[in-house]
Amino acid sequence: MLKLEKIHSYYGDSHVLQGVSLFIGEDESVCLLGRNGAGKSTTMKSIMGFVPPREGEIFFKDEKISGLPPFEIVRRGIGYVPEDRRIFPDLTVMENLEVAFLKREDGPSKWDVSTILEMFPLLRGLLNRKGGNLSGGEQQLLAIARALIGNPSLLLLDEPCEGLAPVIVGQLKEVILTLRKEIPILIAEQNALFALEVSSRGYVIEKGIIKYEGTTEDLMGNKEIQRRYLSV
Ligand SMILES: Nc1ncnc2c1ncn2[C@@H]1O[C@H](COP(=O)(O)OP(=O)(O)OP(=O)(O)O)[C@@H](O)[C@H]1O
Ligand SMILES: [Mg+2]
Repeated sequence: MLKLEKIHSYYGDSHVLQGVSLFIGEDESVCLLGRNGAGKSTTMKSIMGFVPPREGEIFFKDEKISGLPPFEIVRRGIGYVPEDRRIFPDLTVMENLEVAFLKREDGPSKWDVSTILEMFPLLRGLLNRKGGNLSGGEQQLLAIARALIGNPSLLLLDEPCEGLAPVIVGQLKEVILTLRKEIPILIAEQNALFALEVSSRGYVIEKGIIKYEGTTEDLMGNKEIQRRYLSV
């Protein structure tokens, strides 16, 4: 589904991703773990074309996407929920969803406003609320809903738990566990325990280099990796 082959990405002269390779299969939910500044968001921005890799290649559904502008990458079917969520604060929840609706060109569209509201019943009572007046957890749900309504075939979630109260994190976990039956997901998290509970496989990144790759059972059982690279 998605394959990164030895990508190198920079901010100016700063060489951040140093040969990152990873893949996500058709029915997988995969996590990218690592501490502050490890390169998780940069990996996602590289996939989306915001920080295009200077070396290496990215393939999505066997087509090369590295080098394409972000709107083309979205149109090919990658949904992206950035770390800061980017809800439109002055648009209502309904409007936030409507502006993001995109019909699939290659088949039936799974998501529209009514299927989204079945998946996220909490948003139903908030449709006329302005995005800026939602709680952090509600904004995160809206951000995920907004990415889904673009009918992607892969979803990238960048630190969905960040800044959320534990009870909301629990609800979010249920949402992601339900979603992963519908769509493959790549989730970047500092919160390794959360990420491992919603994924089947994971990568550990540090200083722009993938240090470890394994199933969630491997990662949960590996105290050495947790101590060295994760804040567990
Ligand atoms: N716009 C930028 N300009 C310059 N350097 C940047 C920029 N964004 C990130 N970096 C640097 O790139 C490195 C990787 O950052 P990145 O945001 O990918 O980390 P992260 O794993 O997502 O961390 P966090 O868990 O804090 O979100 C860090 O050293 C960071 O300081
Ligand atoms: Mg980040």
